[in-house]
Amino acid sequence: MEQVIKPIHKPFNNIVSNISRHNPNIGVLDASKYTNGDISIYNDDCMKAFKQLADKSVDFIVTDPPYFIDGMGDDWNDKELNKKKSKAGAIGGLPVGMKFDPMQGIRLEEFFYKVSLEAIRVLKPGGFMVSFSQGRLFHRLSVACENAGFEIRDMLIWEHNGGQGKAFTQNHFIKKMNISEEEKKSMIDKLNGRKTPQLRPKFEPMLLAQKPKDGTFVNNCIKWNTGLVNIDFNEGQQTTIFKYDKPKKEKIIDHMTVKPVALLERLIEIFTVDGQTVLDPFLGSGTTGIASVKKNRKFIGFEIEKKYFLISIQRFEKLWRK
Ligand SMILES: C[S@@+](CC[C@H](N)C(=O)[O-])C[C@H]1O[C@@H](n2cnc3c(N)ncnc32)[C@H](O)[C@@H]1O
Repeated sequence: MEQVIKPIHKPFNNIVSNISRHNPNIGVLDASKYTNGDISIYNDDCMKAFKQLADKSVDFIVTDPPYFIDGMGDDWNDKELNKKKSKAGAIGGLPVGMKFDPMQGIRLEEFFYKVSLEAIRVLKPGGFMVSFSQGRLFHRLSVACENAGFEIRDMLIWEHNGGQGKAFTQNHFIKKMNISEEEKKSMIDKLNGRKTPQLRPKFEPMLLAQKPKDGTFVNNCIKWNTGLVNIDFNEGQQTTIFKYDKPKKEKIIDHMTVKPVALLERLIEIFTVDGQTVLDPFLGSGTTGIASVKKNRKFIGFEIEKKYFLISIQRFEKLWRK
């Protein structure tokens, strides 16, 4: 189907046109909400922003929540994240030395349970929620969603072109040990090049959850226009595996975990129909919003960090300018 891009909603107000001339930086935009045509994005904590939405007002939620990397919680903070990134090597990666934070999953589950309660409230009956995750945290999101009342439907896979390998040998530590050279050599030989348990990542799991339907599939779909999916495409039926390369770095998108727009477009095509409303409570650089506009869906997004909120606006502007 031909891609529909909504007519340009110009003129943008002065504040917004300012943004395109400056790099996003705090203070350029005081407003905490940006609306243009069928999109509304809020620069706010999602738990507060959810309160703006009525019950049963959203058709589909797709999101990529914070993963509570080492020592960080829902107090997501860009500066802290960058500090940790430089230590850990990659977002979501295990800290150097494999220091394992057993609280990470527990905190994520508690946080995502609260998010899921709001998500299920605003979704229409039969509506779907897709949440990106990680292999070692997927179960926490699943349990959180299920406890909030969602039905867990499936695990979908985003197969990408590969992340950075993070596994490392222990030779470095052995060489620093206060033992003879002979003993060091013997230890290194014994370990025989084996590495820390981090296989090179090739996929991200996505949790597919559904708000319980109002009656049968037919009744629910007639009443709410949700609950059934479109999986037939020119290239055949969509499987549970979605193959999309990681997006290339773009100057405008200064965010560490950007998802491919084409993947979001495909998810939106599967779980919604033309004109329906998509919500992303963890908007980041705005990828879900861009995909929604390209697919002619209404869009609502929440982002706690002003920097990313502004980047999202810039991306919308760029899309409409094309
Ligand atoms: C994993 S990133 C999303 C990236 C996005 N998929 C993209 O393509 O750019 C998660 C985002 O959630 C935001 N975030 C974290 N906690 C939040 C909260 N309580 N409310 C709203 N946004 C939050 C972070 O600032 C971050 O940009």
